[in-house]
Amino acid sequence: MTLNMNLGANSYDIILEHGAIQKASEYLNLNRKVFVITDDGVPAEYADIVCAQCKHPVKAVVAQGEDSKGFPTFEKLCRMMLENGFTRTDAVVAVGGGVVGDLAGFTAASFMRGIDFYNIPTTLLSEVDSSIGGKTAINLGGVKNIIGAFHQPKCVLIDPDVLKTLPKRQIANGLAESIKMATTFDAELFELIENKDIAENLDIIIERSLRIKKYVVEHDEKEKGLRKVLNFGHTIGHGIESYEGLHGLYHGECVALGMLPMCEGEIRERLLRVLEKAELPTKLDFDADRVFEAITHDKKLDGETLNVIYVPEIGKFEMKKTPLSDFRTVLEEVFCK
Ligand SMILES: NC(=O)c1ccc[n+]([C@@H]2O[C@H](COP(=O)([O-])OP(=O)(O)OC[C@H]3O[C@@H](n4cnc5c(N)ncnc54)[C@H](O)[C@@H]3O)[C@@H](O)[C@H]2O)c1
Repeated sequence: MTLNMNLGANSYDIILEHGAIQKASEYLNLNRKVFVITDDGVPAEYADIVCAQCKHPVKAVVAQGEDSKGFPTFEKLCRMMLENGFTRTDAVVAVGGGVVGDLAGFTAASFMRGIDFYNIPTTLLSEVDSSIGGKTAINLGGVKNIIGAFHQPKCVLIDPDVLKTLPKRQIANGLAESIKMATTFDAELFELIENKDIAENLDIIIERSLRIKKYVVEHDEKEKGLRKVLNFGHTIGHGIESYEGLHGLYHGECVALGMLPMCEGEIRERLLRVLEKAELPTKLDFDADRVFEAITHDKKLDGETLNVIYVPEIGKFEMKKTPLSDFRTVLEEVFCK
C-alpha cells in the first residue's frame, strides 16, 4: 500500500509493504552514491540488503543507543561523506529505529545544506511515528532533540517483516505511540487495540497510525498548532525520561506513563487497561516531587503554566494551559497512591 504525504513541493510516498526492503531500488533512486546509515543493534542483513541494491553504497554503522544522537557521531558521518566525495545529487538512507532516523535525517539535512533522504524504519516506534513527518535532530548537553531541522524524506519504506527480529519490549515501546494517536484521534483504533489481539492486528495498527500522523503533519508541517497533539503524554514523559538513567525506561514507556495524568475517570481506566494489555508500565516508583522537578525543566514550560494535551473523551483532545500547582496534584493522584 502507498500513502502519499501531501506537502506540496515536499510531498513523498510512504510505502507499507511486507518484503519492501528486498526491492528498495524499485521505490528509491539508489542509482547514485548512497550513504547507508545503520546501528550495531539492527541486524546487519537489513542494511546489507539495501547496500546490495545501490550503485555506489557507502555504509556507516554507529553504536546503538541514544548517545549516538550527538555531535561526535554527526561529525564522523559528515566527515565520511566528505571523504567519499558525496555531492548534492547523492542520497542518505537510514536503516534503523528512531535514533538512526533522526541522526541520518539531520546529517542529510545539513550536508551541503540538504541532500535527498530516504528512511527505512526498523522498529515499531519508527514505523508508526518517527520515520514520517520530517523532524530530524540530535541531542546536546543532555537536552533531547535540541539541535535539528525539518527535512522531509523523499520516500519512506516500511517493511513490517523487519519487526520479526525486534525484542518484545521494543514492540510495546512502539505501541505506546500508536496508543497515543488512537487516544487523541481515533476511537476505533483505540477499541481495536482494546478488544482484539494486538500481534494479529499489527499491520492495521501501523497503517492507521500512519494515516493519523500523515493527517496531522499535512495540516501542520512545522508544529505551529495541531501537530502539538503528537506531544500527548510527552510533557510528563520527557520529565520521566530525564531520570532514564535511574529507571532504564524507553521513550515509549515514559510516554505511556505520561499519558495517564492527562485524562480522568473512565477514560483513564480504559487507557490504563490498554497500556497494561500492551505490556507498558503504568506505575512509577519514585516520588512526585522528583517527577515534578524534572517536568518543570522541560522545554515546553511557559511561566507558571504548562501547555498540555488533555483527552476529555477517547478519540478527542484539547489543548489546555494548566497551572503548575494542578500538575503537582494530578501527579500525586496518579503515581503516589
Ligand atoms: N523524529 C521524530 O518525529 C521522532 C518521534 C518519536 C521519537 N523520535 C526519536 O526516536 C528515538 C527512539 O527510537 P526507537 O524507539 O526506534 O529506538 P532505537 O532507534 O534506539 O532502537 C531501539 C533498539 O532496537 C534496535 N533495533 C532496531 N531495529 C531492530 C530490528 N528490526 N531488530 C532488532 N533490533 C532492532 C536498535 O539497535 C536499538 O538498540 C529517540 O531518539 C526519539 O527522540 C523521533
